[in-house]
Amino acid sequence: MADKLIIFDTTLRDGEQSPGASMTKDEKIRIAKQLERLKVDVIEAGFAAASPGDFDSIKTIAGIIKDSTICSLSRANDRDISRAAEALAAAERKRIHTFIATSALHMEKKLRMTPDQVFEQAKLAVRFARKFTDDVEFSTEDGSRSDIDFLCKVIEAVIAEGATTINIPDTVGYGVPELYGHLIKTLRERVPNSDKAVWSVHCHNDLGMAVANSLAGVYIGGARQVECTINGLGERAGNTALEEVVMAMRTRKDHFKLDLNIDTSQIVAASKLVSQITGFAVQPNKAVVGANAFAHASGIHQDGVLKARDTYEIMRAEDVGWTANKIVLGKLSGRNAFKQRLEELGIELESETEVNAAFARFKELADRKAEIFDEDIIALVSDEQQSH
Ligand code: KIV
Ligand code: ZN
Repeated sequence: MADKLIIFDTTLRDGEQSPGASMTKDEKIRIAKQLERLKVDVIEAGFAAASPGDFDSIKTIAGIIKDSTICSLSRANDRDISRAAEALAAAERKRIHTFIATSALHMEKKLRMTPDQVFEQAKLAVRFARKFTDDVEFSTEDGSRSDIDFLCKVIEAVIAEGATTINIPDTVGYGVPELYGHLIKTLRERVPNSDKAVWSVHCHNDLGMAVANSLAGVYIGGARQVECTINGLGERAGNTALEEVVMAMRTRKDHFKLDLNIDTSQIVAASKLVSQITGFAVQPNKAVVGANAFAHASGIHQDGVLKARDTYEIMRAEDVGWTANKIVLGKLSGRNAFKQRLEELGIELESETEVNAAFARFKELADRKAEIFDEDIIALVSDEQQSH
């Protein structure tokens, strides 16, 4: 059996950190239920110590969701960890996710702490979190810009304290695939007790490489958890897009050779729900969930797809929850696609001459109008029939 890849969704925590994407408790519950239908392994429901509202949402979600592990973020201090534990109390499966920055820049300028102080605080945080659950994740914030010797020292210590997942965030999207993948690989090789934890990747999209970096972390580095959000929602340019990672894993299973729990047929519903709740439109050419992701407009492609879908489709629209692929009729469409649409609309023309005439009128119209809808075709054909 292939290894399993854990999908950790942080739409409700890191996704919500996107300016303008804040959600009400009811909206978060609707999204959490959809994430459960999607069968994500872990739902990071929020940051319990951040606000009473966040605490309340996590607490409610923890009481409702049964099939996914519910997680709360917390800084590496007792107060945050206690709040997370309190909010998660009712969860059937709970995880506390604690983090502290490990880069020289963040430690000195933001935390105003020495590396020794950060080291001690990381250990204490994991030790304390383990009092509430045996599922504790530790993140090295700004990990991709941290000194590797220091990372090894901290990670070895937190695993010894009982951290079960080690997450290496590329907090500012600075990583490039080969380097990030090798960072994870080197850490796993150098940390003596590394096999006692699941390794995780968490990438931001500032240079448009969040998905590529995550996949490199998995393939080169051996990470077995990806942290991601629906539609890639998240701070600044966003996080790793769940739908892209999942469909890359499924479509290129020959390469990644990993199993996933995800029910891909729920992907489009999840994307639409998050977009509708946040008001963040999905760009039409967005991979997997964009309106054009399975649309064919060029005549050559339409003809190919009508003959054999694999010619221009590497995945099926239906597999991610679209009703079907879409042949968009326009000036580039060929006679074959036009004829097929006539059949779908139940229009029977009497002879090939009539089809040719209707196709000629369609081409004239398509020169004036970017997309031809079914109504246009019906009107065009009834004009044709009336002229006889
Ligand atoms: O990007 C980041 O570093 C984070 C951590 C808090 C996990 O979101
Ligand atoms: Zn993040």
